[in-house]
Amino acid sequence: MQAARLDSLHMIERACWRELDQAAKDRQHGWHVLTLATVDGTRADARSVVLREANEAQRQVLFYTDHRSAKVAQISAHPEGVLVGWCTRTSWQLRMQVRLQVHTSGLEVSSRWAQVKLSPSSQDYLAALPPGTPVDRYQPERGSRDHFAVVVADVLAIDWLELRTDGHRRARLAGGGSVWLTP
Ligand SMILES: Cc1cc2nc3c(=O)[nH]c(=O)nc-3n(C[C@H](O)[C@H](O)[C@H](O)COP(=O)(O)O)c2cc1C
Repeated sequence: MQAARLDSLHMIERACWRELDQAAKDRQHGWHVLTLATVDGTRADARSVVLREANEAQRQVLFYTDHRSAKVAQISAHPEGVLVGWCTRTSWQLRMQVRLQVHTSGLEVSSRWAQVKLSPSSQDYLAALPPGTPVDRYQPERGSRDHFAVVVADVLAIDWLELRTDGHRRARLAGGGSVWLTP
């Protein structure tokens, strides 16, 4: 049997933020790894990123990266992006229209790096060479300094799609300006 449906756009938006919060904490959640699409000059680019935090009050989600990566240069030139996720448990697709900011210093970066550097994923931000550098052979060289950056995504609107055998539903969720859409 399919779960009861949420009826109001406000409730659906709240539920999306609850799921995002869960997804940041739960590696098994379908939205734990999101696809981030950015603009690279006149072309599109996209890659997977791990959702680290979700803050409903500020309508923000966060992920971490190496500040030397191509996505950071793309964001500096063009801060608009889209984060896409699909969760099989809820059968919900989320497409978040976001404005991105990259932070490389300050308390919000140092406090998170203090946690990350104690974990195995610290390696992701300590590579000697910038991500994407061509090399002759695989060489997991660790540099002496970190290149950790926090990317803050302001969520401008959410395109929510629910797939169900008794009828798909879609809405644009944007606080007071939310509307139902034809799926
Ligand atoms: C499951 C998964 C999770 C990933 N999470 C991140 C992440 O949180 N941050 C990140 O910068 N790259 C992450 N990556 C690597 C990116 O997808 C990408 O390969 C790398 O960041 C270089 O992308 P760019 O050249 O577009 O900057 C992840 C890759 C996979 C497969």
